[in-house]
Amino acid sequence: MKLTIMTLFKETIDAMLECSIVGRARKNNCISIESVDIRAFSNNKHLQVDDYPYGGGAGMLMMAQPIYDCYQFIKERSSAQTMRVIYVTPQGKVWNQAMAEEFSKEEELVILCGHYEGVDQRVIDEIVTDEISIGDYVLTGGELAALVMTDSIVRLIPGVLGKKESFEEESFSDGLLEYPQYTRPAVFRDRKVPDVLLSGNHQKIEAYRREQSIINTFHKRPELLREAHLNERERHFINEYFYEDTKKYCKKEQDML
Ligand code: ADE
Repeated sequence: MKLTIMTLFKETIDAMLECSIVGRARKNNCISIESVDIRAFSNNKHLQVDDYPYGGGAGMLMMAQPIYDCYQFIKERSSAQTMRVIYVTPQGKVWNQAMAEEFSKEEELVILCGHYEGVDQRVIDEIVTDEISIGDYVLTGGELAALVMTDSIVRLIPGVLGKKESFEEESFSDGLLEYPQYTRPAVFRDRKVPDVLLSGNHQKIEAYRREQSIINTFHKRPELLREAHLNERERHFINEYFYEDTKKYCKKEQDML
């Protein structure tokens, strides 16, 4: 996969891209990630990239021309059949693990980071295929959002995580939160590791972990259970053991899991 981030703050992006698992993935050529400075495409002699909004109002807007020319530059050197262009904005669809999985399968992605009070709508209409938000709050620019997306996409690309860092059993992988985990010592401040985890019985351990995942999800994020991949027996388990609690979360009886 190739991922290009269009930004006015290239140094911020580059500093983060060198770190940790993302940095290692780039070095190992599992993925190509690059940032491009939008300002370099300004055709203004002062390298201006923002201007006042027509109709008045607070703040400045990013101009269409430098962004469009930056996009053309990226497109011209691309050999991909399709190239999704993501604008990170609080108005976008809220990012989640399923979306990270979907985007991780793309051949080439471009992320546009906005700044100031926003971006001229015409360039959004011209080049953007997806608008993504990382949550219902407003950041000063799109860089942090672009990095959050990048991190969650990159780690899903085959070969990026080692076996030890595998994501197959982590939170959200089945629409459920992860089960609690323990390491040595077996007793810490009178708190014992559950016996089953010391039993060596892998079938029992697997069943116990699955049950703990469901219970954890029920208590912390019950709304996830609607979409989670549960079998009949597991749905029955929830209704049996959490019936009273479940009622609180469901307005009508037929809404039950
Ligand atoms: N830019 C500013 N706030 C944002 C948010 N919440 N998500 C994505 N991009 C943003």
